[in-house]
Amino acid sequence: MPEPVTVTRDGGVAIVTLDNPPVNALSFHLREPLNAALFDLRDDPTVDAVVLACAGRTFVAGADITEFGKPMLRPDLRDLIETLETFTKPTVAAIHGTALGGGLELALGCHFRVADPAAKLGLPEVKLGILPGAGGTQRLPRLLGPVKALKMITSGVPVSAGEALSGGLVDAIAEGDLVATAVDFIRDKAAAGGPYALVRERDDKLGEARTDMTAFDAAADEIARKARGLEAPLACIESVRNSVLLPFDEGLKRERQFFVDLVSGDQSKAQRHLFFAEREAAKVEGVGREVKSREIRRVGVIGAGTMGGGIAMSFANAGIPVTLLETTTEALERGLATIDRNYAISVSRGSLTEDARAKRVALFSGTLSYDDLADCDLVIEAVFEEMEVKKEVFAKLDRVCRPGAVLASNTSYLDVDEIASATSRPEDVVGMHFFSPANVMKLLEIVRGTRTRADVLATALSVAKKIGKVPVVVGICYGFVGNRMLQARGADLEDLLLEGATPEQVDGVFTELGFPMGPFAMGDLAGLDVGWRSRRAHGKTAVIADALCEAGRYGQKTGKGFYLYENGSRTPRADPEVAALIEEKARERGVNRREISEQEIVERTLYPMINEGARILEERIAARPSDIDIVWVNGYGFPVGKGGPMFFADLTGLQDIVARLDHWHGRTGKDVYAPAGLMRKLAGEGRGFADLQGSKV
Ligand code: CAA
Repeated sequence: MPEPVTVTRDGGVAIVTLDNPPVNALSFHLREPLNAALFDLRDDPTVDAVVLACAGRTFVAGADITEFGKPMLRPDLRDLIETLETFTKPTVAAIHGTALGGGLELALGCHFRVADPAAKLGLPEVKLGILPGAGGTQRLPRLLGPVKALKMITSGVPVSAGEALSGGLVDAIAEGDLVATAVDFIRDKAAAGGPYALVRERDDKLGEARTDMTAFDAAADEIARKARGLEAPLACIESVRNSVLLPFDEGLKRERQFFVDLVSGDQSKAQRHLFFAEREAAKVEGVGREVKSREIRRVGVIGAGTMGGGIAMSFANAGIPVTLLETTTEALERGLATIDRNYAISVSRGSLTEDARAKRVALFSGTLSYDDLADCDLVIEAVFEEMEVKKEVFAKLDRVCRPGAVLASNTSYLDVDEIASATSRPEDVVGMHFFSPANVMKLLEIVRGTRTRADVLATALSVAKKIGKVPVVVGICYGFVGNRMLQARGADLEDLLLEGATPEQVDGVFTELGFPMGPFAMGDLAGLDVGWRSRRAHGKTAVIADALCEAGRYGQKTGKGFYLYENGSRTPRADPEVAALIEEKARERGVNRREISEQEIVERTLYPMINEGARILEERIAARPSDIDIVWVNGYGFPVGKGGPMFFADLTGLQDIVARLDHWHGRTGKDVYAPAGLMRKLAGEGRGFADLQGSKV
């Protein structure tokens, strides 16, 4: 362990360096010596000015999240800032890497801030279900103005050093050595003489806002509308509003109360769980730091349909050249035209510059010949979901690809080992399962075949990070983690409808929980004909969904499905024809329709899905419960405030869930309700899924 705080001198300037690897989080063992050092420097007459800097890869990246939810040992961050604010000699924060959360709040306690040109500054607390709890919501608006501060605090997205400079958040950008620049900067300030204004004393930008709150209110309304049941964004809005309307100390007091309430709530626990879960998911058995990943300079994508096109865009967006292969000129041209159109839409919406669009489009090349994949380091197949077709593709890849190229399948269900058996190099084959739309959705299920080599997995993991995906390594089974649980979620849906629920009632329960949409709206969006065709191919039926398809109701694409979509609208509207159809089918089957409660809907959709998650753990298809949570939050819109299905199960209580599964199993006889042995065992021992891996929250 390095010395957490060291003080060096450059003439009259004291340089305080914090060193708490890996990200200089403000743990107690850093706060205590820092506070002591600050007191010494404040009272030392030979010190004219102070620079606060960090060793290692970053400035302070925030509070130590593992200390949340436990009694906070003093001095806390607010004490440190208070100490800084008693300085009559000037102080400056020298910021490199990422000044995040409590790190930025600490810097806001200094009189000045100097940043490295590559630095990023942000208050990401909202992503952890809290708000900045050490004055961030009160000080940031004083530098940036309330509207800009509101956007930064409620999005949690950091700004660049350049943006920070133009907004007034930093005072200078270091052209050369950061600490040397900060020393010169603060020496000049000391020479010029005080008094030095504290951020808390600045009022120019708030004064302006006080006379007209229209812009603030408009921004706040829009953010509140999109909050989807999350409490933290609403608290952020109120707290920033307080910065404008209340005296500083009163605003600070209320910010603290918001923080205390939020940090002890389930939403923040869920979001902190997801923070650590994402990092855990990157740790894969047998793929240690010593395993080197292969270099990926060019990627091939087979199939230029919706999925292939989206996958190709993900790589181009990260600056990686892509060769797109199709079987016919028309299909290839259609695929490339769709990609062009998607980028043009981004330009027209202002989310992409014309220059960036041109650069991305130039990274694509199209081909009809497998020979053109010879120089690719990674090839991802996204063709029709049929084993024989996939095997044919892999046999061809085996012939043309260079030795050492990674061969990946985007299959959503099929056995990656069988696909790999079509090649002479199954150890180079891996599943890379993207989620539609692939250029937007964060999740990447990486499917580990029996013979997949460790460095192939390492390559898939590192390439995922490069293209901004959240990877989870899973084992082979039908549908892997996500789709297998999705099937379990849908297994009893038709009976729910027949027994008395309506599509809008079921979907309403989901949106109320915080899902972007419920299962029926999702079916309409994906196209009901997809499942219909697959059922017919496997000799299966579904009473209501089949009847809808037979009536030409395929979902959004035909303007009708479980819902009605009028005049090209994407907003689902309840359709009396569907209600009548459900009632007719229930009558035909002699089902007595009754009132279905919201709780029953949860028990007959989410509980079987959690149960399937437990089976997946028993079979070691997923390495840990939190991996399943990451799959569902990033691939299927499971609400972040609920932490994913397995976290949600722990919150609900496994004993209760097992009892209800037993109940529904007895009533319906359906296998999806038969409680997994693992879940029954955990429930019997009074434990939860979190106990399987040692929770950090
Ligand atoms: N507290 C505790 N541990 C942290 C941490 C924090 N604030 N930030 C990162 N870590 C840990 C990670 O868990 C990880 O640990 P393992 O290696 O054991 O898995 C390690 O540090 C490295 O982190 P990353 O893998 O994320 O490294 P990266 O280089 O990809 O990213 C980062 C670095 C951008 C700083 C990223 O870690 C990050 O975003 N951290 C969180 C920042 C944040 O949310 N800060 C606000 C905290 S809340 C706060 O400050 C509230 C307040 O006002 C009191």
